[in-house]
Amino acid sequence: MRIHKKALVLATVGFALAATAAWYHANAGTATSGLFPKDGPKIPLGLVEIVWPEENPYSAEKAELGWLLFFDTRLSSDRSVSCASCHAPAHAYADGRPVSTGIKQQKGGRSAPSVINRVYGAAQFWDGRAASLEEQAKGPIANPIEMTAEKDAGKAHAACVDSLREVKEYRRRFKAVFGTEEFTIDHVAMAIATFERTVLSGNSPYDKFKAGDKTALTESQQRGMNVFFSNNARCDSCHDGAAFTTNQFANIGVGMDKVNPDLGRYNVTKRDSDKGAFKTPGLRDIARTAPYMHDGSLKTLEDVVEHYDKGGIKNQWLHQDVKPLKLSKQDKSDLVQFLHALNGEGWQHIKAPTKLPK
Ligand code: HEC
Ligand code: HEC
Repeated sequence: MRIHKKALVLATVGFALAATAAWYHANAGTATSGLFPKDGPKIPLGLVEIVWPEENPYSAEKAELGWLLFFDTRLSSDRSVSCASCHAPAHAYADGRPVSTGIKQQKGGRSAPSVINRVYGAAQFWDGRAASLEEQAKGPIANPIEMTAEKDAGKAHAACVDSLREVKEYRRRFKAVFGTEEFTIDHVAMAIATFERTVLSGNSPYDKFKAGDKTALTESQQRGMNVFFSNNARCDSCHDGAAFTTNQFANIGVGMDKVNPDLGRYNVTKRDSDKGAFKTPGLRDIARTAPYMHDGSLKTLEDVVEHYDKGGIKNQWLHQDVKPLKLSKQDKSDLVQFLHALNGEGWQHIKAPTKLPK
């Protein structure tokens, strides 16, 4: 009787495997990972609907292709670095370091931001120099400190595309998504951007509290929330909205005590008033992406709160809302507790692919 049952189980498993293989075969070229729903990602509580760009609409197949590319070191000239090297799921899609390390162990001058909730960002990079995620994605592939040894951007992009075109499964996937095996760097960027738009974070204790679950925040977190939104601290004058950013640029003094400070937004606009201004980052999952600021100079959230409490670092272009706050010890620890309550979900199910295209 027992043997009989086992045989039955084995037969069933065998049948299921055969059926899966047949299904996979019949669906070659369609999304197979199950990570990307046909109608787009599920929007976690607290976030707003995604507006997909007309010129690059969502499809599950495109998002999946972008996911594979994001984790593929073949995008870099010496095949050692992928986007995920600096935007890793284990670090909430940042890299846990003050500044990033690219090919040949080179270090850049800025800290890698998380790619979580980038779909809600108006501009990309700390200085907002890329207008879209599509444009952004082409940056690191042509950046001699990050992913290429090539000085010329056109050549770097061509080399990246060439190495991907050598891969049969990529040719098949690009054909299925974009209708051509002769895909370009723009197609690569479109796929990656589509993937990034599915990396979301919401449904945090804060969102649950706002939705009516009064037990979702501890008392300390509730007090911290009041500090955050208070007329004194005014954190929400910059960190507002579903992703906790107005997407504006501000000088809060970080790095302005250096001899040659990074002038941030000024490098893009050449407007004096933009000197030392950086894009206001979103704050979701912020407790998971230390160290902080464009230069990774603040190690902990406690350090960040101290920075604001003392009124930032004085300089000619300091934003008017950054001034000594005179928070009590209790206020400060409550504020840090509140920031922890912004840890959410919507990205944890997306991990590195176990197998890359061959
Ligand atoms: C060597 C590390 C490194 C690699 C590799 C890398 N990035 Fe980044 N990424 C960074 C750093 C550092 C910044 C911030 C640079 C700046 O603002 O000037 C950044 C910024 C970004 C941003 C903007 C985030 C924001 O808040 O504005 C996105 C999106 C992004 N990277 C996606 C990617 C993609 C896609 C790839 C692969 C094609 C990639 N990155 C490869 C380090 C890296
Ligand atoms: C005037 C606008 C403004 C106000 C007010 C403001 N912030 Fe910021 N915040 C920014 C900007 C801009 C940055 C990035 C600065 C940089 O890297 O140079 C930032 C960075 C941060 C970071 C680090 C984010 C990261 O990814 O590294 C945290 C945390 C933060 N702010 C929390 C707060 C809190 C808490 C308050 C209230 C006490 C506050 N902010 C008030 C604009 C503001």
